Amino acid sequence: MLLDLVTSRRVVFVGGKGGVGKTSVAAALALGRAGAGARVLLVSTDPAHNLGHLWGRPVGDTPTRLAGPGDPAPGAAGYVDGLEIDPERTVDQHLTAVAATMRRLLPERMHQPAARHLELARQAPGTHESAVLERVAEAVELGEDSYDLVVFDTAPSGHTLRLLALPEQLTSWTEALLANRDRSDRFAAAVRGLGGGREETDRDAELRRVLVRRRDRFTRLREAVTDPARTGFVLVLTAEVLPIAETTEVHAKLTGMGVDVAALVANRRSPADAGALLARRRAQEDTHLARLRRQVPDVPLLDIPLLPGDLVGAEALGVLADLLGPTS
Ligand SMILES: Nc1ncnc2c1ncn2[C@@H]1O[C@H](COP(=O)(O)OP(=O)(O)O)[C@@H](O)[C@H]1O
Ligand SMILES: [Mg+2]
Repeated sequence: MLLDLVTSRRVVFVGGKGGVGKTSVAAALALGRAGAGARVLLVSTDPAHNLGHLWGRPVGDTPTRLAGPGDPAPGAAGYVDGLEIDPERTVDQHLTAVAATMRRLLPERMHQPAARHLELARQAPGTHESAVLERVAEAVELGEDSYDLVVFDTAPSGHTLRLLALPEQLTSWTEALLANRDRSDRFAAAVRGLGGGREETDRDAELRRVLVRRRDRFTRLREAVTDPARTGFVLVLTAEVLPIAETTEVHAKLTGMGVDVAALVANRRSPADAGALLARRRAQEDTHLARLRRQVPDVPLLDIPLLPGDLVGAEALGVLADLLGPTS
């Protein structure tokens, strides 16, 4: 089942329309794998975070233990650490770091215009996303070093697709900057031939290192995300017209970007044996899912029933994890 489908992966993105159950499924997946002994990092990239609400404890911008040794997940040898990426704080840190680099690398007379430029950049479209992407890259790297699995609880689909398309764009943007640097390096060398300064060369070398590091980081992220052996996308939906249309569309886009869709999860399925109304709903859902099956024939599709209680706290998540289940 779902846990088996993702067992061999190191990175799982859980996506889908708002409200379909992404956070619940991501958390249950994390808990299920931890129950099988894995060290799991659960990362929310949705600006409307709710890992904290779900686990009934504060989760912040650094990894916090949610379940594991010393915690109410009995018998689990593995653990779940949670992390909510805070876009505001990320942008702040990002711009502070960029400002420091700029001050180091730019000649004095450029400091003020550069600072003004950065203040504008804070509000510019894409700044939040590229800062969040940097943190996604960082989380994937942290996962490689210290965890067996990183589960991303993502923002609603459109946002996440833009985020995943960014490494490509940022890489080519950095390439262009580097090509520009190449030209100005040659120019600087020519100037030095005419008696230009040594300081310029050091600055150029450092700026180049910063750009190369950033480019390499996004290249590595793109490689990780488009490697089906390492990364899978789980698309959560409810069996209704709009979520199904969106699932088909997102599946096509992800596949086009080279991202493997590991599973579709039809959440909150209505019971067939609990009265006429729900039985009719169930039949309607079956019709929708049959259409989804025709449109996306080759990806495993799993059902999760509508559960009676609130899905809050480790115990409720454990019930959901069991439904994702048998672990191997
Ligand atoms: N299988 C289910 N049965 C009952 N309630 C569910 C189920 N899955 C999710 N929910 C509830 O639906 C609401 C939305 O789920 P959530 O995981 O927060 O969605 P998303 O992260 O996609 O916005 C929550 O109140 C959650 O408890
Ligand atoms: Mg959510």
